[in-house]
Amino acid sequence: MNHQPDHPANVPADAVLSPMTWRGDHLQMIDQTRLPSEEVWLELRTAGEVREAIQSLRVRGAPAIGIAAAYGLYLGVWDYPAENRQDLIRHLQHVSGQLASSRPTAVNLTWALNRSLENVKNHESKDPSVLKQVVLDYAQKLHEEDMRICVDIGYAGQPLVPQEAGVITHCNTGSLATGRYGTALSVIYHAHLEGKNIHVWVDETRPLLQGSRLTAWELGRTGIPYHLITDSMAGWVMKTKRADLVIVGTDRVAANGDTANKIGTYALSILAEYHSVPFYVAAPLSSIDLSIPDGDHIPIEERDPGEVRYTASCATAPEDAPVFNPAFDVTPHSLIRGFITEKGIVRPDFSKNLSRLLSD
Ligand code: MRU
Repeated sequence: MNHQPDHPANVPADAVLSPMTWRGDHLQMIDQTRLPSEEVWLELRTAGEVREAIQSLRVRGAPAIGIAAAYGLYLGVWDYPAENRQDLIRHLQHVSGQLASSRPTAVNLTWALNRSLENVKNHESKDPSVLKQVVLDYAQKLHEEDMRICVDIGYAGQPLVPQEAGVITHCNTGSLATGRYGTALSVIYHAHLEGKNIHVWVDETRPLLQGSRLTAWELGRTGIPYHLITDSMAGWVMKTKRADLVIVGTDRVAANGDTANKIGTYALSILAEYHSVPFYVAAPLSSIDLSIPDGDHIPIEERDPGEVRYTASCATAPEDAPVFNPAFDVTPHSLIRGFITEKGIVRPDFSKNLSRLLSD
């Protein structure tokens, strides 16, 4: 498998991480919960281990959890003693259901699992061992496709980025969150590649600090200038510093363009609107869910209150403080200037233009 499609020339190849690699009989991935202090590589050998890794955010970011789940499906069936084709498909459905229940908001998870299952069902072979290989081949295909999509998103976003640009981003949308390169961060990598003088404002992204732990770490490796800010500083940065645009990623885009992304994105979009800073969402087509009409139908994951009461195992609130901890929020489509996809930029009317894009 080619792991380096069209690598950005002035970003050192080893600086842009490959966060996941299939190693013949296991999935190797970096444990994102240990970053930035330690680079710990995991060897996942069962679907249960993949499920645990997704649930506990060892692997996170919408495209990345879809890819991991596709490999997890294979890890859940390779040694299953299937009696026949039907038996294998039943088992695959069972494993897929377990993986799909690991996190609810990012549609990429069920998108990848459903596509893999459909691919098996459409395959003519009746031999379970052949069908198992079909599942693995499909996971590798999705993985490779995702890297190309990320590069295409990176290029597609360039008309939006001026030669001198201050960009605000939220959460982590880089290599760690995808097969490689990222979505919103790929636009930033490619601006750097084109020699643009780009500076990034990185929201720390409370409560789990994906911005400060992961995005700052990725940008530091590639040498792209950035400043880390707390989430509450973004408005002041828009008012007093150079902020030409906001680019974020997404976990699910509804048919009308309403967009779920990491908690804090909604507030950022309102700040951007107030300060007339264009707000864009980098979205692979796999994140667009035309089956739901609007953001009210997007399931929002609520996570452990301990994520808010503690920071890096240090108590920052009373032990019994009542906590509301939604991991995502929904930005209404009216606050979004456009979607940067692998097929180009989609502008309003989103209901019409997103469905046209997907039907093409
Ligand atoms: O809870 P996380 O860290 O998985 O949330 C990730 C995000 O919200 C990302 O912005 C989104 O998945 C896009 S990643 C290209």
